[in-house]
Amino acid sequence: MEKKIILSGIQATGNLTLGNYLGALNNWVEMQDKYDCYYMIADLHTLTIRKDPEELRQNTLSLIALYIAAGLDPEKNTIFIQSHIPAHPSLSWVLNCYTYMGELNRMTQFKDKAAKHADNINSGLFTYPVLMAADILAYNADLVPVGDDQKQHLEITRDIAERFNSLYGETFKLPEAYIGKVGARIMGLQDPTAKMSKSATNELDKVLLTDTPDDIRKKFKKAVTDSENKVRYDREAKPGVSNLMSIYGIIKNKSMEEIEKEFDGQGYGVFKTAVAEAVVERLEPLQKRYNELLENPEKLKEIYQKGDKKAIEKTDKLLKEVYRKVGLVVD
Ligand code: TYM
Repeated sequence: MEKKIILSGIQATGNLTLGNYLGALNNWVEMQDKYDCYYMIADLHTLTIRKDPEELRQNTLSLIALYIAAGLDPEKNTIFIQSHIPAHPSLSWVLNCYTYMGELNRMTQFKDKAAKHADNINSGLFTYPVLMAADILAYNADLVPVGDDQKQHLEITRDIAERFNSLYGETFKLPEAYIGKVGARIMGLQDPTAKMSKSATNELDKVLLTDTPDDIRKKFKKAVTDSENKVRYDREAKPGVSNLMSIYGIIKNKSMEEIEKEFDGQGYGVFKTAVAEAVVERLEPLQKRYNELLENPEKLKEIYQKGDKKAIEKTDKLLKEVYRKVGLVVD
């Protein structure tokens, strides 16, 4: 039986957080044996926010290193750079013509980003979900492993695909979001009612994948909890502690009940130290490997060039089919 197809990506903004890792990257690693996986660096999406060009180029390469350091085997996965694959922007343009302004206006991420970057509400930010739809549909992906904040983008992808299929006959497969049971939304350590975000201005709110062990310990020590001093899972009443439990649970592969038992009768001090140590233990080898990989940019180039080639081969036929269906002259 043919393996199911997975596609996902992360923007090349640098400073990835523990949220990106636990919500996305960590799940990707678990999928690599079972599925035919395509993992890209979403560098075109990164252009929607102003970036220093050199920094973006460096972040793109670093992110490839991070994918591999996190455990993605370049032999098993197709790792590539979005901007190297002509089908993404090409298909995105076609799909833009089958997407309504009203639909895009409803995207909460657009509203959030437009509020945050009021001086640069460009049309790329507005049509961001259409490029994401093109990324996914170009591969006929079955599953898209993402954090819960991307759910709405998956819904609009399906809507666009269904609309196109009903106009031109079966063309695109309808993809499903693959969202982990825990960790789909890692919250900030200082404000556990909002998701942990790369762009948070309070450094204590986010754990970066490149943080030193001491920084990580300090951040967990200062994490906001509550006054009950009892390790108990309750997202509504105890968002801080519940978030720490989710982090610990994913890394240690333990259920919330198991964690409650493990820390029964112990206060937050002991618990926070245990969470911090679990994170340090997980990130230390990752960072070591990441730094080694960064020293060998030629190797990274080899990896993405091989991935690019496979991605181009994979998407070319479908792009032509779409062009033909809408009436463009092909060949
Ligand atoms: P990006 O770069 O914002 O985030 C990358 C991944 O990290 C997840 N994530 C989180 N998960 C749990 N808790 C958090 N606090 C948290 N913060 C971020 C995101 O859900 C995401 O899975 N639009 C995408 C990139 C993209 C893409 C695609 C993804 C472009 N094309 C096609 C899948 C398929 C994004 O903004 O990711």
